[in-house]
Amino acid sequence: MSENDRRGMTAWLDRARAGEEPGEAAPLLRQRPRRLRRTAALRAAVAETRLRPEQLVYPLFVVPGEGPMEEIPSLPGQWRLPVERVADQAAVAWDSGVRAVLLFGSAARKDDDGASAADPEGPAQQAVRALKDALPELVVITDVCLCAYTTHGHCGLVAPDGEVMNDATLGPLSQIAVSHAEAGADLVAPSDMMDGRVAAIREALDRADYSQVGIMGYSAKYASAFYGPFREALDCAPRVGHRRSYQMDPANRREALREARLDAEEGADIIVVKPALAYLDVIAELRVVLDRPVAAYNVSGEYAMLKAAVERGWIEERPAVLEALTAIARAGADLIITYHAPEAARWLREG
Ligand code: PBG
Repeated sequence: MSENDRRGMTAWLDRARAGEEPGEAAPLLRQRPRRLRRTAALRAAVAETRLRPEQLVYPLFVVPGEGPMEEIPSLPGQWRLPVERVADQAAVAWDSGVRAVLLFGSAARKDDDGASAADPEGPAQQAVRALKDALPELVVITDVCLCAYTTHGHCGLVAPDGEVMNDATLGPLSQIAVSHAEAGADLVAPSDMMDGRVAAIREALDRADYSQVGIMGYSAKYASAFYGPFREALDCAPRVGHRRSYQMDPANRREALREARLDAEEGADIIVVKPALAYLDVIAELRVVLDRPVAAYNVSGEYAMLKAAVERGWIEERPAVLEALTAIARAGADLIITYHAPEAARWLREG
């Protein structure tokens, strides 16, 4: 604004404040951002972020045994699925426009070293085969971790003194990854946060002739209070201690950059930030500095909070979900892992 404009505006405001009829529109107000918000078509024309169903990844929980699927109390609308139900559930997502799932397996019998995690006949491995049979085009991503398979509930092997051992865990993780690749997974997603696991898994996959299987690395995975419902779903909370010696401190952003760079150097094809909504700054920063797709995990606690407020009638579900997911995309996420995926995809298609 020029000095003249400013004087005109001040005089106009004084008159308006004094309760006098200003008599005319505000003078010389040249910048009017509201012009582009006037109609739906204008708003759509200038929208900077567009959510697409194809960028959503739907997490699925596979459990051992047969029988009916069982709703997870703290994750309304999400289910513990026996192998034979997984493909049907994925088909619902596929029909809504979702093109990728993230599969979490669990153990029939947990033990100290999570030995059953790499079993070719385990629920996760069977589910991958069932999904690939039923929906060959579906992108199948598998979680690689020990916590759902160990009695202690930690993501790595635990030494007698209680320490979660890093290097000793790399072998078991690599075996799990290879067993998923063998079953037909497109990408494996190590979520354990051990140092060097991306390199170890990449080498194991290549040696086993799975050079086409990619790695989605949870690089910036924070020690978060928002994983509670997930741990209930898979009964995988640590029995003793916590995960702060391997997952990141929520206080840190530079460290996320370091973790992401290391994973990228080690061969991660996609980098994950987790959780999503409380870490939009981390997503935004990684988007700028990395030359890999960035995925954000809209975790169980984020989903549960929103659902709980919807159940109480405190917020409206559809706009709240689409706003949250759009915000994650706006921050820079290419992929969004979310329990809302099938519904959100359907809403996006409806327009
Ligand atoms: C386990 C794992 C967790 C989640 C994904 N993989 C829990 C944890 O680290 O304690 C959380 C996902 C969610 O909360 O939706 N490695």
